[in-house]
Amino acid sequence: MMADDDSVKEEEEEEEAAAAPQRDSNGADEKIVSSSGGGTAAENQTLSKRQKKKLLRQQKWEEERDLRKQLRKEKRQQRRQQRQNQEEEKEHGGDAQSARKRLRRDVTPSSLRLVVDCGFDSLMLMKDVRKLHKQIQRCYAENRRAVHPVQFYLTSLGGQLKQSMDEKDKGWVNWKDIHIKTEHYSEVVAKEDLVYLTSDSPNVLEELDHNKAYVIGGLVDHNHHKGITFEKAKELGIHHAQLPLSSFVKMNSRKVLAVNHVFEIILAYMEKGSWQEAFFTVLPQRKGAVAVETGTIAQEKQDNNSDSDPDPDSPEQTEKRT
Ligand SMILES: C[S@@+](CC[C@H](N)C(=O)[O-])C[C@H]1O[C@@H](n2cnc3c(N)ncnc32)[C@H](O)[C@@H]1O
Repeated sequence: MMADDDSVKEEEEEEEAAAAPQRDSNGADEKIVSSSGGGTAAENQTLSKRQKKKLLRQQKWEEERDLRKQLRKEKRQQRRQQRQNQEEEKEHGGDAQSARKRLRRDVTPSSLRLVVDCGFDSLMLMKDVRKLHKQIQRCYAENRRAVHPVQFYLTSLGGQLKQSMDEKDKGWVNWKDIHIKTEHYSEVVAKEDLVYLTSDSPNVLEELDHNKAYVIGGLVDHNHHKGITFEKAKELGIHHAQLPLSSFVKMNSRKVLAVNHVFEIILAYMEKGSWQEAFFTVLPQRKGAVAVETGTIAQEKQDNNSDSDPDPDSPEQTEKRT
């Protein structure tokens, strides 16, 4: 960098010399005596008009020497600053790029399958189908940015939900890393691998088995179809389990969660390895969850009339706790 500055300085000095008042044709300085050089008024009076002009130019040149020096210095500083900025930009740009690369590298997809069973379409009004649609969009987005994304399946897709997707979000046809099927989940996954997640199951999920496919009921029903997924699982003779909510948190509302909350809890558990952390990260404030050991809520309210499917647009739905 110093070498660069020196050469710039040399160039500038050459420029200065080139721009200096002209010498006569044989290269010698004209015999003009400037006032600063000690020329007297009488001497000046004997000068021709042309010589006087030249003398004035020379005087001006001498007077502005310091100014020019200062300007050159400023220019040099500007160039140095510019170079520094460019270098810093390169460094930071590089950092961001490698951070992005690092982030991509750190993503380890899981073999665990998470299925949203869309087979309840005819049980919902369009307004609830729209809510389910938003919850599914959220599942997709969360899975795309997860550290351990799951193998995401939508099964039995059709009817009103498909209509909503076609109308409201045509881009779904380009979704990546998702298996979208019109078939029932039992036609897509081997029966012995299936575990239906349902709050009505007497079985409590303790660990996740990465060889299994966990099914979430794609339903927004305000508890009008209580126990429907549990019944379906029993009918089909597949495993079922509820999330271990009671073991880790006490809540001031029912333990029936919205589709995207269940989905996000599974993703958070895979990342953090702790159910408690997963619940606290995902559950909205209004569920009033407190840790079991430190909880002060005396009794869990079995509020059968409360809406278990919060509006995915509400802030509590989109803001996770940290
Ligand atoms: C809004 S709930 C639907 C409730 C519905 N009445 C039922 O019988 O499943 C959406 C889905 O999230 C899953 N889910 C909700 N809370 C759960 C819990 N505490 N444990 C396990 N799965 C749960 C179930 O798969 C459920 O079908």
